[in-house]
Amino acid sequence: MKGLKTLTLAAAITIILAAFALISAAARTGNADDFNAADTYKAKCVACHGAAAEKKFDATQADADLVQIVLKGEKAEKPPHMPAYAEKGITEDQAKALVAHMKSIKK
Ligand code: HEC
Repeated sequence: MKGLKTLTLAAAITIILAAFALISAAARTGNADDFNAADTYKAKCVACHGAAAEKKFDATQADADLVQIVLKGEKAEKPPHMPAYAEKGITEDQAKALVAHMKSIKK
């Protein structure tokens, strides 16, 4: 019986450790501190929108509408189209930060 108890304890410890690993992984991906809107903009958006968000970006639109376009994409009259970044792992908070960044760099 002692062997069975040790086995149960070992299994419980394994489950607890796995749960901690999952929780910390989730905390990492959801951590806004790890997300830098300026860096992401330079890496993913600058090619189409320009260094000062001067292309294909109308800063007079409401933030909520712009955020939805970042998340869901938008068909332009002709390609290239605006990709849907929700599919690429951009969260709503990150999209908000990107839109705020674009407004801040637009002259
Ligand atoms: C392949 C080119 C391309 C890339 C890359 C791209 N966009 Fe776009 N984006 C577009 C096009 C095209 C439109 C639609 C313009 C239109 O309405 O004609 C658009 C529209 C937008 C709009 C709405 C602007 C408006 O005035 O309606 C926002 C906000 C936006 N993009 C943000 C981003 C962000 C943030 C990124 C990077 C994460 C990004 N885009 C990457 C091409 C791109």
